[in-house]
Amino acid sequence: MNDSFSNVAALPVGAVSDADAARNPPASDAGFLWDFWYPAIRSGEIRGRQLVTAMLLEIPLVLGRTDDGHAFAMRDSCPHRGIPLSYGRFDGEAVECGYHGWRFDACTARCIAIPSLTSQDKLKVERIFAGHFPCEERDGYVWVFMTQAGTRLPATIPAAPPLPVFSKSYKITHLVCELPSHVDQGIIGLMDPAHGPFVHKSWFWRSRHSIHAKEKQFEPIENGFRMSTHTPSANSAPYKLLRKMTGEAVTTTIDFVLPNMRLEEIHSGKLWFSSRATVTPVRRDLCRIDFVAAYNLPIPVAVVRPFAKKFLRQDQETMIQQAEGLKYHPKLMLIDDADRQAKWYFALKAALLESRRTGKPLVHPMDGPVTLYWRS
Ligand code: FES
Ligand SMILES: [Fe+2]
Repeated sequence: MNDSFSNVAALPVGAVSDADAARNPPASDAGFLWDFWYPAIRSGEIRGRQLVTAMLLEIPLVLGRTDDGHAFAMRDSCPHRGIPLSYGRFDGEAVECGYHGWRFDACTARCIAIPSLTSQDKLKVERIFAGHFPCEERDGYVWVFMTQAGTRLPATIPAAPPLPVFSKSYKITHLVCELPSHVDQGIIGLMDPAHGPFVHKSWFWRSRHSIHAKEKQFEPIENGFRMSTHTPSANSAPYKLLRKMTGEAVTTTIDFVLPNMRLEEIHSGKLWFSSRATVTPVRRDLCRIDFVAAYNLPIPVAVVRPFAKKFLRQDQETMIQQAEGLKYHPKLMLIDDADRQAKWYFALKAALLESRRTGKPLVHPMDGPVTLYWRS
């Protein structure tokens, strides 16, 4: 065992590990990870010069696309008196506040006009900015780089994370689902192997009686961990079908990467399936799963979607039930090895915050490959 956790059978939340700070943030701190890209809305939601609102990490946003095709994201609040800018007008270049008509360049959020000023006024209009955030469109989403109010943008901002694809042409499909939970619960639900046979009972997937011992290899990767490339369990129909199609072995690799991303790649011969689920904090009591899958299998999207939808719906129903219980702040447990990925998530989150605090490199909670054992 190479990870930094002791092998206690049950870890009461808030009692043992050094990840406590991340798991139980103080009331003022919602436990969000800033300075990362988050998907805000689907690209198609912005039509023409329409302004669209969204909320990420408890920040209200107004989004749009300029006439020359650049998506933008501003804080949905006029710096004059705080009325949401989304009640104003957008002419394809500038957003005009609906209250006193101040105008802001959409891409820089710099104020370009204050109609009430006379030639006597000395106010430097160009020094006034509305709140704004880096914004990029990718894989059918408008991504926003969320920085905390009052902090500067990091010196370099990476590109918004692309979904890996492995051929020129492919099919792509998107699904969305809201969960009435803190993002941490959403993420550990996503990386939870033990709920499968109970929550995802389906004729096409598996039944609770198919539960069996598993042994999976994990390895550390930058800002995350990987379930190493392996041949998935033979008892699920989709893998059997894939094997039949190509006659070649099926392999799968699953990554978790901070702040919120599960990536899965399945390959068999020339055929591939690549999916990404992100869990994005909307408020501290609400998060959203955005699921996107691309593939080159000869199967129409209309066939794949209902299965993915059913899966998400099953997770959502469970999380709604869980939220009912969490209202009363029960003590929770994380057990080895089935909950080890959840422990890694909390430890990674704590390590990231610590590295940002000290300016030192992130100390990864895993110091090498680890094999985990569970039944699912
Ligand atoms: S509140 Fe926006 S211009 Fe006054
Ligand atoms: Fe699930």
